[in-house]
Order: sequence, then structure tokens, then C-alpha cells
Amino acid sequence: MADAWLAHSAYIDATGEPIQKWLMERLDPNPGGTYLDLGAGPGSTSIAIAEKTGSSGKVITSDLVPEMVEAARGRIQSAGFTNVDYQVIDAQKIELPDGSVDGATFRFGLMLVPDAALACREVLRVLRPGGKFAIATWAGPDRNPWVSIIGLALTQHGKSPGGNPFEPGGLFSLSQPEVVRDLLEASGFIEVKTDTVATEMPASDFDEYWSRQLDLAAPLKAVFSSLSDEEAAAVKQSGRDMAASFIGADGRANFPAEAVCGFGVKP
Ligand SMILES: C[S@@+](CC[C@H](N)C(=O)[O-])C[C@H]1O[C@@H](n2cnc3c(N)ncnc32)[C@H](O)[C@@H]1O
Repeated sequence: MADAWLAHSAYIDATGEPIQKWLMERLDPNPGGTYLDLGAGPGSTSIAIAEKTGSSGKVITSDLVPEMVEAARGRIQSAGFTNVDYQVIDAQKIELPDGSVDGATFRFGLMLVPDAALACREVLRVLRPGGKFAIATWAGPDRNPWVSIIGLALTQHGKSPGGNPFEPGGLFSLSQPEVVRDLLEASGFIEVKTDTVATEMPASDFDEYWSRQLDLAAPLKAVFSSLSDEEAAAVKQSGRDMAASFIGADGRANFPAEAVCGFGVKP
């Protein structure tokens, strides 16, 4: 999926802007500081941090998937940043020394980690005292029809994308602010704050929306790509029907979206 995420990085940046703003205001990176971006994908959050830390600081751009790290490297280096290191890191086993970073981010990734509590404890370990952790996850399916419609359309035709999205590691496993709060507090963070932040997912028409979101969602794309032409057409038509209220008279699509943002400090 790394190529698709890279290709759509401008769209991801634009639609993620209000969420990025929330995270960056809480993280408030210091010039000269060292920051860890977990599950960085194509590196949007790493770039925002690198701009703040300046050349005397450092961002460790990381992801579980080596291809994602390489995609981020290409993008960040061509943007001219030299204060970024690149590392393959599983958030459940962060290979960095204790107390070695001033802050950490995990935008739209913590909910995908099978043991999110372990990942939070690992972040706590690598933060220095007073270090900050800022995350974003997706709110529930009713708040995010841009993604839930595709899963529902597949399920309606007996093609379940597999796995319960509310169980650990599922897309909606951290979809409630109180669950995120409990997770951060139980892991040992203090000064915990949570919020919901709205954004929008526009598209020039339904077809553009459908193909882009499939490109960005590996599990859904895997199921959809395995369908016959007739099955795929039927699933897409169900998606089109469900999306009708988000399509304007001019054919343009605009889906609401909502993130759950969370923040905590290491004591
Ligand atoms: C939805 S993408 C978000 C990418 C980027 N943070 C953004 O907001 O644009 C989630 C990322 O988390 C990564 N990821 C999933 N599980 C992970 C884990 N256990 N440790 C680190 N990264 C993980 C995925 O490889 C993927 O790149």
C-alpha cells in the first residue's frame, strides 16, 4: 500500500489538516528536540514536526512496514529535510533507549496495533520525563461513512472484509474518547486530554471516492479485488446507493469524517 499512500499524500495532508493542527498544538515540538513518529506512513506528521525542531533537532520517522519507511524517506528527503532519521519500528517493541525522546506521535495507527496498551507503555518508556504523546484514531463508523460504506457494501453481498473492526487491532477499536483516555491513563500518562475533531473527505465524484479509498484501505481492497466483475459491480452499486446523501446535484462527493485525538505526558 506504500505506493498508494505516497500517491495520495497531498490528499491525506489536506483532509488531515484539522487533526494535524490538534496534534501539533499539543505536542508543541521544541527547536532542537528529538521526536518519534510511529506508524508514520508517508510522513505527513514527521514533516510537520521536522519543520518545528529545525536543523538542531531530530525526527525519527518510523513504521512497521519497511516500504512505508522508504516511501516517507523519499518524500521527506525530496522536501529537503536533513534532520530526519528513518527506522522500521513495531510500536509494541520500540528499539530506542529509555528516556531518549522528547515527544511521540501516532496518527491513525494505534488502533491497528494488536496490543495498544503495550505500545503505549513502550512510548512511555522511550519518552523522557515530561515528554508528550499525541495520537489520533478514527471515531465510529457512523461518524466516518467514507470508510464504513465500503465495508458495509461488501458485507451486504456476503463478502465480509474479515475481523471485527471493534476488536483490538480493528479500525474502530479506539473509536471512543473515553476508551482512548482510559488507555492513556492506564498506561501511566498524566495530563491526559481527548477530543473529537471533524474533517471532510471530498471527491470530484463517487467513482473517484471509491477508487481512492480502496487504494488506501488494504483489507478492503484485498476483498474487493478478489471479486468477479459482476460481484464488484454489485458491491459498488450498493456503495453508491449508501453514499447518495453525500453526493451533491453536481455529482461531487463530500463525506464527513471524525477523529478521536488523545494526548498525555510522561510523569
Ligand atoms: C492509516 S496509516 C497512517 C499513516 C500516517 N500516520 C498518517 O496519518 O498519514 C497507519 C500506519 O500504521 C502502521 N502500523 C500498523 N501497525 C503498526 C505497528 N504495530 N507499529 C508501527 N506502525 C504500525 C501501518 O503500516 C501504516 O503505515
